[in-house]
Amino acid sequence: IDPRLDLFAEIERLKKEKNAILLAHYYQEPDIQDVADYIGDSLGLAQQAAKTDADIIVFAGVHFMAETAKILNPNKKVLLPDLKAGCSLADSAPADLFAHFKAKYPGHIVISYINCTAEIKALSDIICTSSNAEKIIESVPKDQPIIFAPDKNLGGYLNKKTGRNMVLWNGACMVHEIFSLEKITKLKVRHPKAKLIAHPECEDAVLQVADFVGSTTQLLKYAIQDSAEEYIVATETGILHQMQKDAPHKTFIPAPPNNSCACNDCPHMKLNTLEKLYLCMEYETPEITMDETLRKAALKPIERMLEISR
Ligand code: 13P
Ligand code: SF4
Repeated sequence: IDPRLDLFAEIERLKKEKNAILLAHYYQEPDIQDVADYIGDSLGLAQQAAKTDADIIVFAGVHFMAETAKILNPNKKVLLPDLKAGCSLADSAPADLFAHFKAKYPGHIVISYINCTAEIKALSDIICTSSNAEKIIESVPKDQPIIFAPDKNLGGYLNKKTGRNMVLWNGACMVHEIFSLEKITKLKVRHPKAKLIAHPECEDAVLQVADFVGSTTQLLKYAIQDSAEEYIVATETGILHQMQKDAPHKTFIPAPPNNSCACNDCPHMKLNTLEKLYLCMEYETPEITMDETLRKAALKPIERMLEISR
């Protein structure tokens, strides 16, 4: 790419010329968030994808998110700047192993976190995100046994919150498992007025000491509306961009990882760059494609989620 090209202007031009909408997750790099038409958490992004009348959906996020947009829009072109932008949580639940697991629990319904493949969605009864998981679980009768997949941390947190005893698949997110309770405790000593806010994909030990637990959108809203001046943020660092933009006078400190070589950036989310975004819009590739039988099977539990979350 010619370095003199104004990529922001080019992306704006391509959006208009192609009637394309650019949806970005909060974990995308700041430049991508700034050029997006809509920035949101997984639920907000799925809701936007369900209602758009654009011809092309450009998804600045990871594969399962773009795949969800395609499931909802079989006749639209859905582009993902880098097809390798996967997700450790989605990878932690291979469909064949999950099908065996599910067969061991007859009579159970399956609630799956949206961070999973289309194949897992097709094996599920209802999808949820971290924003609506409690509401989705509460919509199921108390005596109905449930399997929750693939995130054991979110599942454990929800079991505590709802008083259920859902059977949990043993999956986790590589980014949210990295935080060190010991280092967070030390940081709190140096910042006694700081509040700890955490995503429910974090381990139980971190969630237990958090002042607030929520999805990325919920963390953002809390940080803006709450009266504290300082926050330790236990989630991917991309969200700090919007927090700092919306509350410039406040201080946001990324929660420390357990080893100094590690960082809180999601390596999958960060595969997307402004350059790749421009190229994918210019050449309309890489595109998400999917088998129609699989798409229809995966659509049902997503539609149930959208109905309950309305
Ligand atoms: P939410 O944005 O829905 O909170 O999900 C977080 C996440 O890990 C997305 O990959
Ligand atoms: Fe997956 Fe975790 Fe990255 Fe989200 S932050 S895309 S759950 S690996």
